[in-house]
Amino acid sequence: MKILVTGGAGYIGSHTIRSLIRFGHEPVAIDNLKEGKIEVLKTKLKVPHIISDIGNKEILKEIIFGEHNSLRNTPNQGQMIDAVMHFAADTNVKQSFKKPLKYYENNVENSIKLLDVLCSKDVRSSRKNNLPIPIIFSSSCATYGSPNSIPVHESFPQNPISPYGKSKLMVETIIKDLAKSHNLQSVILRYFNAAGASEDSLLGEDHSPETHLIPRVIMAALGQQKEINIYGDNYPTPDGTCIRDYIHVEDLANAHVLALKLFSNFDKANNYQDENEEKNCFEFNVGLGKGISVKEIIKIVDKMVGKVPYSIKNKREGDPPVLIASSEKIKRVLGWNPKYENTDEIIYHAYKWIKKNCSKKN
Ligand code: UFG
Repeated sequence: MKILVTGGAGYIGSHTIRSLIRFGHEPVAIDNLKEGKIEVLKTKLKVPHIISDIGNKEILKEIIFGEHNSLRNTPNQGQMIDAVMHFAADTNVKQSFKKPLKYYENNVENSIKLLDVLCSKDVRSSRKNNLPIPIIFSSSCATYGSPNSIPVHESFPQNPISPYGKSKLMVETIIKDLAKSHNLQSVILRYFNAAGASEDSLLGEDHSPETHLIPRVIMAALGQQKEINIYGDNYPTPDGTCIRDYIHVEDLANAHVLALKLFSNFDKANNYQDENEEKNCFEFNVGLGKGISVKEIIKIVDKMVGKVPYSIKNKREGDPPVLIASSEKIKRVLGWNPKYENTDEIIYHAYKWIKKNCSKKN
């Protein structure tokens, strides 16, 4: 299938493009390079790409119809896009409290523009089934807020506690409304904590500044930063630090490729929906169903890389104490079967990537 990948130069988008290519699909990436890196698209993935915001409807249409200049002499020239994977977003929970409008503009407003194009009359009438172009949307466990019980099932109430989480829930809501009004075929994937890097260290996590726990702990052990701050050690958890469900980025990428299969026979797929799901819109958690605390991560890195200097700081706003996925549904409906269930291995891949690619920063 010809897949438009928004945010294709980013951490999860780039791993997904690689999986798509491995499975014989033909991705096209769009990225504004505010976070993503051009060499990922050009040199590492060698994938047709357009450098642009997704908020430009004219450009989106040119890409969707295979008419954009950058698609000349590529397999996508003159070919219409079959499905969209929508990763492009701002994802820093802490920043979202300080700059909520940035999150509502980039995550919500731009998604509306993209969805408007996918559902537009000229796009629909150019497709065999006269339906909008299907979409797989990158959502987050942050939409659940602080769940009352663990593991978190897809049917749990969604009460996000950060502007970031709220922005993701808003887009979910819009997609569900379009599933009803326009028969938009859609899959919402709620990621738990993406971690690790590709096994061969070609792709990895490269945020600037890096805010995520695992890379920061590794950098502290390597002496690339002074120490790691533990944000709170009096949470209601066994060692007082927050518990998360860390999932290997390659397993997360593969979940997207599996989700595409739903679109090849969506009418049949609708029979597998849960009662509480909107017709035409599937919702899946993507996590391992296994919780690890901040201190446990530090212990693993202590042994693997070297002593991690840390200090205890105040809690970070918007951090729920425990987030662990129920992954029963994605396994049952999509046949998803994670390859990397061992946290040490996930951390090891992150370590190899950082050692090879990142020098002193932050
Ligand atoms: N943490 C520290 N010190 C650090 C960094 C993180 O103690 O230097 C703690 C956090 O407080 C949290 C845990 O480590 O308890 C994991 O934090 P991350 O920043 O790695 O990940 P988050 O859980 O905050 O965020 C991730 C994604 C978001 C997503 C969110 C859902 O980055 O996009 O999960 O909760 F929305």
